Amino acid sequence: MRILGIETSCDETAAAIVENGNDILSNIVATSAEIHSNAGGIIPEHAARQQIVSIIPVVERAIKAASGNVELKQYIKTKIDAISVTVGPGLIGSLLVGVETAKTLSYLWKKNIIPVNHLLGHVYANWLDTKIFPSFPLVALVVSGGHTDFIVMKTHGKVEWVGGTRDDAAGEAFDKTARLLSLPYPGGPSLSKIAQKYIEKNPEKKLNLFPRPMINHENLDCSFSGLKTSIIKQITNNDKRYSNQRLAAETQEAIVEVLVRKSLKAIKQYKPKSFLLAGGVAANFRLRKTLTNKLSSMHDNLSFHVPDVRLCTDNAAYIASCAFYNNNPRSWKDISANPQLSIENTV
Ligand code: KG4
Ligand code: ZN
Repeated sequence: MRILGIETSCDETAAAIVENGNDILSNIVATSAEIHSNAGGIIPEHAARQQIVSIIPVVERAIKAASGNVELKQYIKTKIDAISVTVGPGLIGSLLVGVETAKTLSYLWKKNIIPVNHLLGHVYANWLDTKIFPSFPLVALVVSGGHTDFIVMKTHGKVEWVGGTRDDAAGEAFDKTARLLSLPYPGGPSLSKIAQKYIEKNPEKKLNLFPRPMINHENLDCSFSGLKTSIIKQITNNDKRYSNQRLAAETQEAIVEVLVRKSLKAIKQYKPKSFLLAGGVAANFRLRKTLTNKLSSMHDNLSFHVPDVRLCTDNAAYIASCAFYNNNPRSWKDISANPQLSIENTV
């Protein structure tokens, strides 16, 4: 089954064609990051305006890249089985661009739409371009710019939220700290780059300048806003005592340590067959490495899955994969955007 995926929940405009939830035939992402870099953060209206400009060319590029020698109209008619689209959560203006485009294409092409939850979509990056699939029951940690959630899945479509952030998301903590340190937008990758430099130069250095909020709480909840306050205090009173590289490494370590400790707690509690990392922050090298080391030495019967770095941040391939495994087709009349959608729901 070949599914066209469309994703516009934040500042990216993305379209992809994926076969049977696994094989990426095309994956096009247009970002408006440059527009936001001057402001140091996403301006929702600017993002949506850019997405309106980009959406049709991006969908067309995705279909052309997948269709090879087959003529475009013919490919759409005979080779695309369904359209999938992110319906939430996300920025309302941005979501509407993708959702209304998908509805129009569904009407014109007479194909069903499969609505997809953006956060659950991230999890399905772990089914893309791989021969080793996750096993159920699984625990997944979704760490993105706006969300930090632990979920348990007994099978496809059976999602239970079991913990997460009480305030700022992990990605937000990366981004806000990067801004405080005057690092270029997008903040997470910039911060992790200079943090890595510090770690390479000081491999033995204990990084424990900042608190690890809620790390010892019995539940899977975490909080990153207190961390931000400590960082602000430290930067304001810094007197150049610590370099930006050191502060970046300290911030990253505090976030990674909390996420890793809570992940180990989740594994102990739910005894899954697989543990999955997903979301933009899953691209973080330190987080990937620390989890890989901890999990390989702890659990023989547990498989650890993390998507290829290029598939961690927003793209439409995982939307199409999620749609394949959660194939609830609808008419275009029954689809609407929901910016507040919870990770446990599709619509
Ligand atoms: O999932 P995503 O692409 O978009 C949302 O759904 O929010 O996640 C974006 C988040 C941003 O906060 C970004 O700074 C963070 O992922 N991020 C990283 C890295 N790459 C992206 N954070 C830390 N280290 C990275 N290498
Ligand atoms: Zn995302």
